[in-house]
Amino acid sequence: MTLIPVHMLLGFVLVLSLWALATLAARAGVAPALVMLTFVWGVAVTVLGMSQDRLLIGGFNWMTKMLHLTGGLVAMGQAEWLAGRIMQARAPALQR
Ligand code: HEM
Repeated sequence: MTLIPVHMLLGFVLVLSLWALATLAARAGVAPALVMLTFVWGVAVTVLGMSQDRLLIGGFNWMTKMLHLTGGLVAMGQAEWLAGRIMQARAPALQR
């Protein structure tokens, strides 16, 4: 039995959660460029993840693995960062 499908499912959940946060960020008034970057990053992480089995066949395996891992970790960092931006954007409204 392989855990890869479970891993892929969790990866999709991460990307969908990131997009949900990006939508909340857009509604909170966070800069559109930052919101778009998060959407594009989510697409890149998914595409790279889905092509892992094909990309891992040739040489430069380690590079593909590093890119995939880094892309995922950066996506997690982006979620933290977006949450911070949403709090900042909402802070003046909350103080009123
Ligand atoms: C939509 C999201 C994702 C998809 C579709 C996906 C897909 C995959 C697949 C298919 C593999 C197996 C490659 C093989 O055949 O050996 C893999 C491996 C791996 N993934 Fe993901 N992944 C996703 C997200 C993530 C995230 C968010 C992280 C980390 C933060 C991550 C870290 C890893 C690592 C460390 C491996 C092992 C690489 C190796 O040594 O072979 N992935 N992923």
